[in-house]
Amino acid sequence: MSPEFPKGQRPPLLLTGAGGMLGSMLQARTPAIYDLHPCTHADLDITDADQVEALVLRLRPQVIVNCAAFARVDACEASRELALLVNGEGPGILARAAHKVGAVLVHFSTDYVFDGCYRHPYVEEDATAPLSVYGLSKLRGEQAIQESGLERYFIIRTSWLYGPGGPNFVETIIRLAQEREELRIVDDQIGCPTYTRDLVLAAFRLLDVPRHSDLDHHSSPYGTFHFAGEGQCSWFEFAEVIVTLLRHHGQDLAVKRILPISTADYPLPAARPAWSVLSTAKYQRVTGAAIPHWRQSLKDYFEARFS
Ligand SMILES: NC(=O)c1ccc[n+]([C@@H]2O[C@H](COP(=O)([O-])OP(=O)(O)OC[C@H]3O[C@@H](n4cnc5c(N)ncnc54)[C@H](OP(=O)(O)O)[C@@H]3O)[C@@H](O)[C@H]2O)c1
Repeated sequence: MSPEFPKGQRPPLLLTGAGGMLGSMLQARTPAIYDLHPCTHADLDITDADQVEALVLRLRPQVIVNCAAFARVDACEASRELALLVNGEGPGILARAAHKVGAVLVHFSTDYVFDGCYRHPYVEEDATAPLSVYGLSKLRGEQAIQESGLERYFIIRTSWLYGPGGPNFVETIIRLAQEREELRIVDDQIGCPTYTRDLVLAAFRLLDVPRHSDLDHHSSPYGTFHFAGEGQCSWFEFAEVIVTLLRHHGQDLAVKRILPISTADYPLPAARPAWSVLSTAKYQRVTGAAIPHWRQSLKDYFEARFS
């Protein structure tokens, strides 16, 4: 985003959900051109419209990045009202506040808005049909932004996120591989692992597009985008690569076998899409940027984590 701010002043960027997995990566990697104002859940509750409006009117951010969410997919099933409030209404509250001060909103959504019945990489316009409360609540959040009157927003749908600071699949497999001889991992759900580092870079690339855009007056550089690591895999293949990398990094492991199982063998409260590969063609076309393959990004994560 262009720092069209008085000379010498950096444009304020309000970050919500700064204490979460993605929020902490965003905090670490926000370009220095911005004046970053990170807010954890304790600092700012995105479902409190008065609190959000008061802060936004005082700070007058040029950009609001929303990393706040109720992202525990299975827990959402038992806490439907809270999921719909945080994931469904919170983004609308932020969007209306952004509209009042002319800020751009960056918001993150999920591949779980789809039912996974397609067998082509999902494009942004494909029909949504969430299978879980989490997926439904995230879809409501997208709709709340779209209906807020705000035109300058980026909704970035992503998938299978991992990175420092959060419970996530990579960290779970690292722990289990140290504790158990046998791992049984679902092999019939296919998706795209995404490193928070890559997603944060993608968000700032998108924010830069309007500045460099030579789009004609009729096309907007804003809207919904898919971003995920290049390539695809099952959770089982993902786990195999994680364990291979653990061995490569000389970790002491208990695990001797990894067995593929089916989703039916491992019932969870929330249903997941069986196939939720996201097409990132629109992101790549608009930014002109390539996306690292998920295997390369995972290697990078291990280098950073075990060095
Ligand atoms: N993790 C994934 O695999 C994945 C996949 C696709 C998309 N996404 C999306 O990516 C985004 C970031 O997810 P993440 O994995 O970083 O989640 P996370 O680690 O759970 O972080 C979410 C943060 O939001 C905070 N929060 C919850 N309710 C809030 C509220 N009412 N007001 C302000 N803050 C609140 C949480 O604080 P407390 O913990 O204190 O409540 C937490 O710090 C989310 O939009 C998520 O839906 C995640």
